[in-house]
This record gives sequence, C-alpha cells and structure tokens, in this order.
Amino acid sequence: MTGKNDECAACGKAPKWKQDFPVEWEGDHYVTRREMVKFMTLGSALLACANWITAIAGKLIHRGSQAERHIGSTSALDQAGLLLFRYPTDQDPCIAVRTPEGKLVAYSQVCTHLSCAVVYSKIDNALICPCHKGVFEIERGSPIAGPPTRPLARVRVEQRGDRLIATELEV
Ligand code: FES
Repeated sequence: MTGKNDECAACGKAPKWKQDFPVEWEGDHYVTRREMVKFMTLGSALLACANWITAIAGKLIHRGSQAERHIGSTSALDQAGLLLFRYPTDQDPCIAVRTPEGKLVAYSQVCTHLSCAVVYSKIDNALICPCHKGVFEIERGSPIAGPPTRPLARVRVEQRGDRLIATELEV
C-alpha cells in the first residue's frame, strides 16, 4: 500500500483491491526506469564492443590471407568485360571489371551495407547493389548513392601475360 492518496476518504483504510494486490507502484516505476536505462546503456556498450571486435577480427583474418591466387585469364576478362572470382578464400566472392578507359579494377562483391552481392552496370559504369539500391563508383569503389557509407574492399590484381593473379585484399 502506498500513501494517503490511496486511502478511503470516509474510513481512512486502503480500498479492498489494494489489500488484495499490495503493489508498490511508485517504487516499481522508479526502479524499472532506472534498470531499463542501465540495461540499455550496458547493452549499447556491449554491442559497440562486439562491433569493434568483429571488425578487428575481420581485418586480422584477411591480413593473414594475402596469398597469390590465379583468378582467370586476361582474354576472358576482356571478352566479357568482367570476371567473377573468389578471393582470398572460396567463400569470398569478388568481381574484376575492365573499365571503358581500359583500366582493370577488382573488388569484393560483398556490399558494405548489409552484405548483398554487388553487380557491375555497364550503363552506369558503377557497381550496383540490388538490395537497397546502393551504388559504388568504379575507380575506387567508393559509395556514391544509397545506404552504404564505406567503400568496397579492393582486390589487387596483377596481369602476368594472359594470367590474372589476385595478390592482396585491401580491407
Ligand atoms: S546491402 Fe547493399 S545497399 Fe543494402
């Protein structure tokens, strides 16, 4: 039972329902709000830490995987205008594009927004993410439209005769 406001004006007793359900409402609200703020603050801090740990772990994993890998032939790339390959592992889809200016660029296909696969649009000369209409310019992989804020991870590719060799993933 709480203060005088809950008491009957005529008899001075708490109402019957209050006697059956003796809940301290004011105290409950105060503690609940405080606990909720604590929970949200700690929860946000934990999520931020988990985000940083995931980002750092991802960089460390990729840093150790800069092995060279044969990804295809220059003639096949020039014929199709693009080449899909996997680097540094078979689980990492990438795309190499021969730009209209004749430059060879290669990126991870994983969109930096929510990880959908980006595709090359010859009409726009850009990499497009179909999930949320993200657009990355082709020269540096920088986001120019849509929700992505970080550039695509770039893959260094060397041409050795007709062979294309991926040598490094720049995260
Ligand atoms: S996943 Fe690419 S724009 Fe959202």
